[in-house]
Amino acid sequence: MGTTAIATAKEVFDLLHDDLLAIEQEFGRDAVSSVAAITEITGYLRESGGKRLRPSLLLLACHSLGYSGAPMHRLGAVVEMIHTATLVHDDIIDGAELRRGRPSPNTTWGNSRCVLAGDWLYMQAFRIALAEQNFRILELLIGLTQVMVEGELLQTEKLGRAVTAAEYNELIYRKTACLFEVSMRLGAVLAGAGPEVEQCLATYGHSLGLAFQIVDDVLDLTADEQVLGKPVASDLREGKATLAVVHALEHASPAEQEAILQVLADGAFTTVRYEDVLATLARHGSIAFAMQVARDHAETARRSLDLLPESEYKRALLWVPDFVVNRDK
Ligand code: IPE
Ligand code: IPE
Ligand code: MG
Ligand code: MG
Repeated sequence: MGTTAIATAKEVFDLLHDDLLAIEQEFGRDAVSSVAAITEITGYLRESGGKRLRPSLLLLACHSLGYSGAPMHRLGAVVEMIHTATLVHDDIIDGAELRRGRPSPNTTWGNSRCVLAGDWLYMQAFRIALAEQNFRILELLIGLTQVMVEGELLQTEKLGRAVTAAEYNELIYRKTACLFEVSMRLGAVLAGAGPEVEQCLATYGHSLGLAFQIVDDVLDLTADEQVLGKPVASDLREGKATLAVVHALEHASPAEQEAILQVLADGAFTTVRYEDVLATLARHGSIAFAMQVARDHAETARRSLDLLPESEYKRALLWVPDFVVNRDK
């Protein structure tokens, strides 16, 4: 079986089916508190689905190195719990009303309960990880959480104005790519891989994560809300400049620039219409540019796997970057 042949979604799903089921069960057992609101909020998000991309990466990293064992299911649940906690907090910060096709938890339980449920979930993730009695695992997870929280904080400081491409790259690394990278590293740690192999998997996760967030930001501008399951055009409404907008600002006429900066400052389409911003992005090929950057990162991810031995798990890892750049939700 050649590694150039790309697997299909069904093949990858079948490959991971039993492991993902075990992770769901682990998550279900772990996210139970004696305080009902916490169990309700985490249960609500867990049951509303999600792509389970981060635990899938951890599983593929383990299997591609010939490792399988119960810790892989526990740590898979841990990365999904950390992801879930960031979503609960992110929707409060962004004032979002829709998540995974349903009202976001903050709209039902309110901000105060959701902040605390998110905190509880972070700590529960660490408690589960503690069972591995491995300082390296804890160090990775603690560093990750701090980088993500710093990222969300830095982002709030940049709202309402243009950012440079370098600032954008730092934000998306912190918000998103770092968790992809750590999911891959955890797989390498469980499998007892050496530093060189761990670094290859880390590069894969890092590049894939950058591609993932760039596509998330493009989908915010182009997707159908019903399909996406979360609000669209919300980044501009939050005053958030994403890659296509950064590109347009670099290429637009002074009048076009002024219009985009006005939308960012207003955090609304009151003085400038959304259609007009989209027309400016189209005129300068800004969406196509952002997608090309995402495809370049996806290609970097694929290339970083050269060192791995051939296997169906490696084939699946080679397929994921394609899935990430071609997805519609
Ligand atoms: C949403 O991540 C948060 C971002 C990093 C953009 P996902 O798109 O992986 O969310 P779910 O888990 O599938 O809902
Ligand atoms: C995602 O940022 C970062 C997270 C760590 C949750 P976004 O604000 O773009 O995520 P969505 O679009 O709400 O999922
Ligand atoms: Mg958000
Ligand atoms: Mg988004």
